[in-house]
Amino acid sequence: MLVDRYGRKINYLRLAVTDRCNLRCFYCMPEEGLDWLARKELMTYEEMLQICSVMVKMGVEKIRITGGEPFVRKDFMSFLTNLSKLQGLEQITLTTNGVLTAPFVPELKKLGIKSVNLSLDTLDRNRFFAITRRDELPSVLETMEQLLHHDLEVKLNAVVMEGKNTDDILPLVELTKDAPVSVRFIEEMPFNGGGAHPETLKWDHFRILGAIQEKYPDIKKLPDPPHSTAYNYQIPGHKGSVGIIAAYTRSFCGTCNRIRLTPTGELKTCLYGPSVLNVKDLMRANTNEQGLQTALLEAISKKEKNGWEAEKNNTGLTSLSASMATIGG
Ligand code: 5AD
Ligand code: SF4
Repeated sequence: MLVDRYGRKINYLRLAVTDRCNLRCFYCMPEEGLDWLARKELMTYEEMLQICSVMVKMGVEKIRITGGEPFVRKDFMSFLTNLSKLQGLEQITLTTNGVLTAPFVPELKKLGIKSVNLSLDTLDRNRFFAITRRDELPSVLETMEQLLHHDLEVKLNAVVMEGKNTDDILPLVELTKDAPVSVRFIEEMPFNGGGAHPETLKWDHFRILGAIQEKYPDIKKLPDPPHSTAYNYQIPGHKGSVGIIAAYTRSFCGTCNRIRLTPTGELKTCLYGPSVLNVKDLMRANTNEQGLQTALLEAISKKEKNGWEAEKNNTGLTSLSASMATIGG
């Protein structure tokens, strides 16, 4: 079983299936994109299934697929179909930008996927273009409608950025009135593919909540589910809820139950930390299942106490110039 030295049970894997993306969100990557990884550097779907199967036997119960944008990788739905057959895996969730997702929603539902996170920072078409450098808001909204229509749980991820979308906070909160969506406001993190980083975080979780409370003073705190990274709230009478994710402040690390695999098979035991093992290299060197298990146990037992400690250990060149698309959002 996967347990770290602080006694935390590790049962949640975030698997990034590609670094590529059809948007260019400025907080994630530069306008020209990244130096995309060559195909042979990526884990194959077979390798992903193999390592997921080993991890599920060791106690992983939930896998979230991320990227990059998962739907830009060829044959993504066949991979998902195979993954959904893994014995012992209780839950698969997805994070997508929603540009290509709408037509696949009925299939997602059939595969038993119950919850999808949609990246959506604004409801305004011009601001969407300014943030993502692509004019794709209508397809993202179509994906949201399809997800709701098929009764999938929808979480919207909005990164809050000074000068870009702070005027969207209230309209996004407004969405929760009639739709059963959870709108989650995320503190901006310094993973934007090497561009200039804001020295200080202008919109931390206190300020985001304050802005919402000004309009909705009666907003109520909801109990947070175990391992939740969001502080959850609800406006009385609204169908949906509001979450605030202190991703930069890192106040939720104490109960962390997650690990990540990047598209190249690097295992990360913290978003802010270095990679601690390459599972693709192990599999390509024909390491048997016992060997993989031993390597995983050893690496995961040393999981960092929290994101601040991890960042201190992360002295590599990739540390803060990395993109969420290569480390798995
Ligand atoms: N800061 C905060 N959140 C980010 N995401 C991507 N880059 C950043 C960043 N620099 C979020 C997106 C996406 C999720 C996977 O990660 O909103 O929904
Ligand atoms: Fe693509 Fe998501 Fe990065 Fe935006 S944040 S560029 S949608 S991977």
